[in-house]
Amino acid sequence: VILAAHDAASKFGFGSTGSPLMSGYTSVHQELEFAMADFLGYPRVVLFSSGYLANLGVAQALLKREDWFIQDRLNHASLIDAAQITGAELKRYPHLNNQKAEDLLKADINRFKLWATEGVFSMDGDSHDLFIAALSAHTYNAMLWVDDCHGVGVMGDKGRGVLDTMTLSQAEVPILSGTFGKAFGTAGAYVAGSDDLIETLIQKSRTYKYNTALPVPVVAATLKALEIIQTEPWRREKILELIHLFKQGCEQYGLSDLAKFTNSAIQPIMLKTEAAALEKSAYLKQCGIITTAIRPPTVPKNQCRLRITLNSELESEDIDVLIQCLIGNY
Ligand SMILES: Cc1ncc(COP(=O)(O)O)c(C=O)c1O
Repeated sequence: VILAAHDAASKFGFGSTGSPLMSGYTSVHQELEFAMADFLGYPRVVLFSSGYLANLGVAQALLKREDWFIQDRLNHASLIDAAQITGAELKRYPHLNNQKAEDLLKADINRFKLWATEGVFSMDGDSHDLFIAALSAHTYNAMLWVDDCHGVGVMGDKGRGVLDTMTLSQAEVPILSGTFGKAFGTAGAYVAGSDDLIETLIQKSRTYKYNTALPVPVVAATLKALEIIQTEPWRREKILELIHLFKQGCEQYGLSDLAKFTNSAIQPIMLKTEAAALEKSAYLKQCGIITTAIRPPTVPKNQCRLRITLNSELESEDIDVLIQCLIGNY
């Protein structure tokens, strides 16, 4: 990944020089868009400079003031901010509650509704039943948008995140977005959809049109990262193994009450108060383990936690050390 960035910088320079619609779009950007579309199984992909800007851009291009923007209560801040700039009415439902979401969809059948949810939730590591969500969206005339920043690259047989783990495709999820800042290890973001959808984003998204395109070395590095995601499935298999070991360790050492087990690489340890989360995080840091203490406003009051994020560079011994540190036995 580093070499790919280095080679591209030598060949193209660093900065992209302008917005994608002016001078910033190169053959390397196009290659990554094509490769991502092929990887995700969507007709077309467009790149944005970050996931935050992608989310603002999608909402702003698709929503008018009279529309409704339906969201899970725990959606990422970028999706909440996206609602603010559209002027559309934001309607939130309790976390993962498909029934409450469906009630909102039914409330006004004729109104255009964009329904956004994360694929894997960033702070809880859990997921909607997106098959049911897609069915409701289809029945009640809403457009389903899944932001899978935390799934793509790290979950599923092929690394396509919730699309793989729930056997979904463009038919169920017409808009799929994500960042390159997490599993890909680079920066930037993508939105996948139909030809029409992507053309609309290119023409209407202000965060696309009026923003300098990604630097070419970043795009080249991302192409290499995508190749690794596609050719090294052992990384995802290893994460699944580590998740299993982590759960086993928690059960063995009496941590099951604090651990909020998930099927993703994100495993929250619920510590309630800010003081408890900060203290544990500092202790783990001394043990050589980086786990940020997550506190309000990122999570609700009294739901402070450590967010354990497992990755393929870790070994089973690291999980042993983690468990011992969590029980204060380092
Ligand atoms: C669910 C979700 N969406 C969007 C973003 C923003 O992505 P980026 O960091 O590329 O701006 C994040 C980043 O944390 C995220 O977790």
